[in-house]
Amino acid sequence: MDFSNRLIPLLLIVFLVVSCSKKPHNISENSDELKIDSLIQRMTLEEKIGMIHASSAFTSGGVPRLGIPELIMSDGPHGVRFEHGRDWARDMDVDDSVTYLPTGICLASTWNTELGYQYGAVLGSEAKHRGKDVILGPGVNIIRSPLCGRNFEYLSEDPFLTSRMAVGYIKGVQDQGIAACVKHFAANNQEENRSGINVVVSEQALREIYFPAFEASVREANVLTVMGAYNKINGLYCTQNPWLLNQVLKEEWGFKGLLMSDWGAVHNTREALLSGTDIEMGTDLLQMPNIDYNKFYLADSAIAMVKRGEVPVSVVDDKVRRILRVMFSIRLFGNRTPGEANTKEHQQLALKVAEEGIVLLKNQQILPLNIAKAKKILVVGENATRKHAHGGGSSQVSTKYEITPLEGIKNLVGNEAAISYQQGYEITRENTVNKKLSDDAVAAAKNADVVIFVGGWIHNFNPAEWGIDAYDSEGIDKKNTQLMYGQDKLIRALAEVNNNVVVTFFGGGPVDMAPWLLQVKAVVQAWYPGMEGGTALANILFGKTNPSGKLPMTFAKKLEDNPSHSIGEYPGKSMEVNYAEGIFVGYRYFDTYQVEPEFCFGHGLSYTTFEYSDFMVETSDNTVSLSFNITNSGKIPGAEVAQVYVANKEASVKRPSKELKWFTKVMLEPNETTTVELELPKEAFMFYQETKKQWVLEPGEFEILLGSSSRDIRLSQTVEM
Ligand code: BGC
Repeated sequence: MDFSNRLIPLLLIVFLVVSCSKKPHNISENSDELKIDSLIQRMTLEEKIGMIHASSAFTSGGVPRLGIPELIMSDGPHGVRFEHGRDWARDMDVDDSVTYLPTGICLASTWNTELGYQYGAVLGSEAKHRGKDVILGPGVNIIRSPLCGRNFEYLSEDPFLTSRMAVGYIKGVQDQGIAACVKHFAANNQEENRSGINVVVSEQALREIYFPAFEASVREANVLTVMGAYNKINGLYCTQNPWLLNQVLKEEWGFKGLLMSDWGAVHNTREALLSGTDIEMGTDLLQMPNIDYNKFYLADSAIAMVKRGEVPVSVVDDKVRRILRVMFSIRLFGNRTPGEANTKEHQQLALKVAEEGIVLLKNQQILPLNIAKAKKILVVGENATRKHAHGGGSSQVSTKYEITPLEGIKNLVGNEAAISYQQGYEITRENTVNKKLSDDAVAAAKNADVVIFVGGWIHNFNPAEWGIDAYDSEGIDKKNTQLMYGQDKLIRALAEVNNNVVVTFFGGGPVDMAPWLLQVKAVVQAWYPGMEGGTALANILFGKTNPSGKLPMTFAKKLEDNPSHSIGEYPGKSMEVNYAEGIFVGYRYFDTYQVEPEFCFGHGLSYTTFEYSDFMVETSDNTVSLSFNITNSGKIPGAEVAQVYVANKEASVKRPSKELKWFTKVMLEPNETTTVELELPKEAFMFYQETKKQWVLEPGEFEILLGSSSRDIRLSQTVEM
């Protein structure tokens, strides 16, 4: 009997296992490259091509003969998605419940990079526990319009804040030996027409606004995988765009990992092969479960193209090399340490992120609520009892549990006060008002000491609600920023009969608050705060936690004030959207064009106060050193996010009136002072000059602004560069 064919793979597996049993590392080492060479040399063309396209809904192909397994992926980005089996159908035979973390925008609102790391570590550990290799997150697309259905998954309108949080997240995931996947590269800033919309955008806006988080993910966090977006940029699909993938991502930034397509984002064999897409995922998923993976663009037709000599085999080898590199980096062939799911620590982290991410927008001496005085508490609103983990599209999570606001409040208050609940409004397809629910809530409010309204947006996971416009969801955008189902009217009516109305919102972005803002005492933005969200919200409302979240996006007074809707275009016409606002995204626009927002970027209140002093600046060759003091001048412990903005005063081209270049979060006891020291690198003073196609530092005056928000600047200094 001839064993040779079987012996080779067996020996190879033993060799790989032995040689890979060492500490995890983020990107492969030289010795790995030699092993990769050897594997590629042994592969047939068919085996190579088998690795560069999907082999099931969430795997790409392996080569069993050589001991190369499939690469197993899972969404992302705020919990390991439920188990799919090999097709879209949910696998009901497994326990796939996990930690449901607060969504990306809530994480970003913490402005706490250390939490970003810990968040990633939870995801990495739980992904490993569930047998995954790649977690499809973080989502780092810039929040361009408040209507984008996926803003709740994304981080911020600002590239610096997005980058800092993404780097922490990715390192956290990858230190667990799991690959992160930063998505969606690039300029995927709306869901409307996402699968083909052509984004017309300047290179300057790409370099300054839409690319930095991806670049930092590659250069600083060594991200192992990147997902190519559905849309086109300046005429070419992102997965078929050689400038974007080969030149910028791989050559300029030195990306060594693999670029997978978003699910169904590849449209052409030759272009995807030659432009830098390494794995094609999700094509023809509508045919599930009878999908023929050999019909994918990067499958049989790719084999034929290489055989005809139209595409060199070296192009395929490079893709296989990148895939193997990722496999070696996460020790896929070695003994991986086990992961963990649903630990107390993971749940506590979910709580901490929610507590630090929930933003107190307005407070007229009502919060924190005093249980000694508020004996009759009325909670109103659908979102007080609604659970959100299962919703939103691909980011859905089968959570171990989810504490709603009503539960959180009841758990905290116990028997110390009476809590009653009224639904107040009803979610309907027709966006109608339920008069009975509203009347009942208003009647109850007359007898309450305080009314806590919990409303805002929802996800779409209940089929009976499909087709409703109130979504934070993949695949669709919101129609506007007005509250639905009569919530505006209801809040007004509640405030007419009760002087102590506290409004709290769930959602991935703002709502228009003008109809009632002056009548209510407090407003709290809770985002989607994860499995412990109700606990976190209650802790903040009743002062167990001192809020420290800050807005990662501008809350405009009305939709039309946003740059994407005023000087720019949204959602575009005839499958094309022009980012005419260029770099003036978010506060860069509101501040420069003097448009008053409802709540500005970086805003968030605390139950204590902070003072800034002794701001000193020193310039040396290429950097500026700063130091300043922050004092907690109030009566309780609290955390402050100090924000450093730079204003270019003498640029030869129009620049934003300020740009965030650094921040830190410090925790201080009452009367405690801390000295913060930092260095701004020269990059903080540069901009991308479209005409020269390069980053420039123009000599001149720069103002350095130190503040508690983008519009609450406490101290400033001028430097000459
Ligand atoms: C989404 C991705 C997601 C993928 C897999 C796509 O529709 O855009 O973010 O990772 O599906 O579920």
